[in-house]
Amino acid sequence: MVRFKVAVALHILFSWIYRGVSNVHCSGYVWIEPAPVIQMGLNISINCHSTVNCQMAKLYMMLNNTHIEDKLLTTINKTTVQLQLHDFRKPYSIVLCYAKCPSKAADMIVCGTQFFAGHPPDSPTNLTCVIYEHSDHLTCAWDAGKYTYISTNYILYLKSLQTGEEKAFPSNAAINISLSKLQGGKLYSIWVQAKNDLGTAHSDHLQVNLEDLVIPATPVITNVETTDSSAPRTILHWKKQTSMENVYCEERYKALADQTWHMKEWDINVTKGPNREYSLESNTEYEFQVRCRLILAKSYWSGWSAPFIYTTPEAAPSKILDVWRVMGPVYTNGSQEVMVLIKPLAPKDARGRILGYTVFHESRGEMVNLCNTSDTQCKVLVSPAMRTVHVTAYNSKGSSMPASITVTQEHSNFNDFLSPTNMQISHDDHRGVSVKWELPKYIGRSVLWFIVEWIFAAQHNQQHDFLWKKVPSQDTFTYIEGDLTEGIHMNISVYAVYQDGISKPCPGQLYLVDLDNDGDVFWGIGTGAIILSIVFLTLIFKKSLRKRYRFLFIPPPPLVSRICLSLRKP
Ligand SMILES: *[C@@H]1O[C@H](CO)[C@@H](O)[C@H](O)[C@H]1NC(C)=O
Ligand SMILES: *[C@@H]1O[C@H](CO)[C@@H](O)[C@H](O)[C@H]1NC(C)=O
Ligand SMILES: *[C@@H]1O[C@H](CO)[C@@H](O)[C@H](O)[C@H]1NC(C)=O
Ligand SMILES: *[C@@H]1O[C@H](CO)[C@@H](O)[C@H](O)[C@H]1NC(C)=O
Ligand SMILES: *[C@@H]1O[C@H](CO)[C@@H](O)[C@H](O)[C@H]1NC(C)=O
Ligand SMILES: *[C@@H]1O[C@H](CO)[C@@H](O)[C@H](O)[C@H]1NC(C)=O
Ligand SMILES: *[C@@H]1O[C@H](CO)[C@@H](O)[C@H](O)[C@H]1NC(C)=O
Ligand SMILES: *[C@@H]1O[C@H](CO)[C@@H](O)[C@H](O)[C@H]1NC(C)=O
Ligand SMILES: *[C@@H]1O[C@H](CO)[C@@H](O)[C@H](O)[C@H]1NC(C)=O
Repeated sequence: MVRFKVAVALHILFSWIYRGVSNVHCSGYVWIEPAPVIQMGLNISINCHSTVNCQMAKLYMMLNNTHIEDKLLTTINKTTVQLQLHDFRKPYSIVLCYAKCPSKAADMIVCGTQFFAGHPPDSPTNLTCVIYEHSDHLTCAWDAGKYTYISTNYILYLKSLQTGEEKAFPSNAAINISLSKLQGGKLYSIWVQAKNDLGTAHSDHLQVNLEDLVIPATPVITNVETTDSSAPRTILHWKKQTSMENVYCEERYKALADQTWHMKEWDINVTKGPNREYSLESNTEYEFQVRCRLILAKSYWSGWSAPFIYTTPEAAPSKILDVWRVMGPVYTNGSQEVMVLIKPLAPKDARGRILGYTVFHESRGEMVNLCNTSDTQCKVLVSPAMRTVHVTAYNSKGSSMPASITVTQEHSNFNDFLSPTNMQISHDDHRGVSVKWELPKYIGRSVLWFIVEWIFAAQHNQQHDFLWKKVPSQDTFTYIEGDLTEGIHMNISVYAVYQDGISKPCPGQLYLVDLDNDGDVFWGIGTGAIILSIVFLTLIFKKSLRKRYRFLFIPPPPLVSRICLSLRKP
């Protein structure tokens, strides 16, 4: 193949140079030493001997259509020149030699040739021969090793160990041999010979019994189903396609979104698809496959069956919701508006499509529905008697365990539920707003978790959305992530949540000022913050004469002004 291409290229090159003259007559000869096919990296010489009838002829060479400078040529004698090339690695080249004769207008061609550099073949490795069940041929393949760059022939030899008969099958890198050609019994020695101009190599000899080479037909998954029980089990149904005995199979599955396969081997004599049960995530897309092989030490696996995609059914949500509330106005009759805020469940915990949320109150063992919504917030009216409300999420299969939230009006148990202290707010360009606080001092009961609540105090926006996050009790630090633009004003509060009560907030405010902006703007906001903090201070002192507060205020610069309220033991 390569040689054919070369011959064509040479022909084209000659034709091109002589504008349509395709019959080139040599007047001399060109030869390559040590040989026209050499091992890569050797030194070679290109020789040109002219028999052109011209006394003063000057010889020159074109290597791959590039003129070779005269000084590179060694003159052997009047009619012979030589070009030496060291460490030669071009797989394939064409050389043409010309004679320039002072008495002739056109240069005359002396002759041309082509030459090759490559590698001797590696010993073929990994010789593998199999017979796919229901096929009528032996399929053999091997690794040829490194690329040789030159034409290399492979011959597969099969020698019957019973009759001693040897058969040769030429091929490239894989071959199908009709079983009808293998009449010498079941036992064979098989090997591959690789051969090119630079050398010959053999693979190891493989001793086989044709019966052991059979790969059972690939099984087919027919169905996947899940039991409708409280702990759902998923069962894979598949059909083996093989007619052989002593076959064993394995199943594998993975969540479609995952990379990792989970394997299940069947080291049993499979006659029909077994019923292995899996405990899988609900409402998740899975991919299943099966494959089989003979129960023999060195047998080969069939291919994996076509993937069977299956989505497990929904199940009731598995996790308790994270909920929060914002206390609203109190009416004259004592009822208070409460906005219940809900964090949607992660898909893994939702275990299906969440159809809605139910907010209810328990009164004398009865559930009193307060709100039924598909929104993640709901305004309810609570009477002074209600201490807690409960929230559940439901999907087609059921509801989550109820989350409880205290809705006691704040003043009542103030001293029991101490607030976090020493809140510090700062801004980090990469991570957003960092909020730090300390555990309430002299704490008698354990904090379940903290709630960080924030609101953007933008003038234009009439509707104030409360944003919040739950922070585990062992952390006293969090980030409010997101893209904050300059000139922002945020109110941030941290609450400690206890078993049956919630602390008053530790409040803070954040003004974000862009220093690159005009100094006036910066000053304006800075002054505003200071005035605000004075108002704040006054309020606190007016309100609580018996209590001592430490008030921290760090005015800008840098960037941020923060107000932190620290509450000490009364
Ligand atoms: C090729 O020629 C160089 C320079 O003459 C010499 O050093 C080198 O050993 C030669 N290589 C081989 C493989 O003969
Ligand atoms: C020149 O050298 C070439 C190659 O070695 C040889 O074939 C030829 O006879 C020589 N010619 C003369 C005139 O010595
Ligand atoms: C000559 O040309 C062939 C085909 O274009 C290329 O593969 C080969 O590397 C070239 N050889 C040299 C010595 O440049
Ligand atoms: C032989 O094939 C196996 C499996 O395909 C592969 O892991 C291994 O690297 C191969 N060995 C060689 C020497 O090519
Ligand atoms: C061998 O036959 C199989 C079909 O049975 C075919 O898919 C494969 O390409 C063939 N291999 C060669 C090297 O001819
Ligand atoms: C496998 O099962 C087949 C049919 O059920 C039986 O003939 C064969 O002996 C069994 N082989 C083993 C190893 O149990
Ligand atoms: C209390 O007053 C509000 C607003 O007037 C009303 O909607 C609510 O039904 C009243 N609650 C009770 C228990 O009377
Ligand atoms: C909530 O509303 C949905 C749809 O309107 C309904 O199916 C469900 O029973 C309601 N739940 C309660 C507790 O009222
Ligand atoms: C933010 O806090 C300040 C000071 O406590 C208060 O005046 C303002 O109304 C708050 N803004 C919002 C939107 O809650």
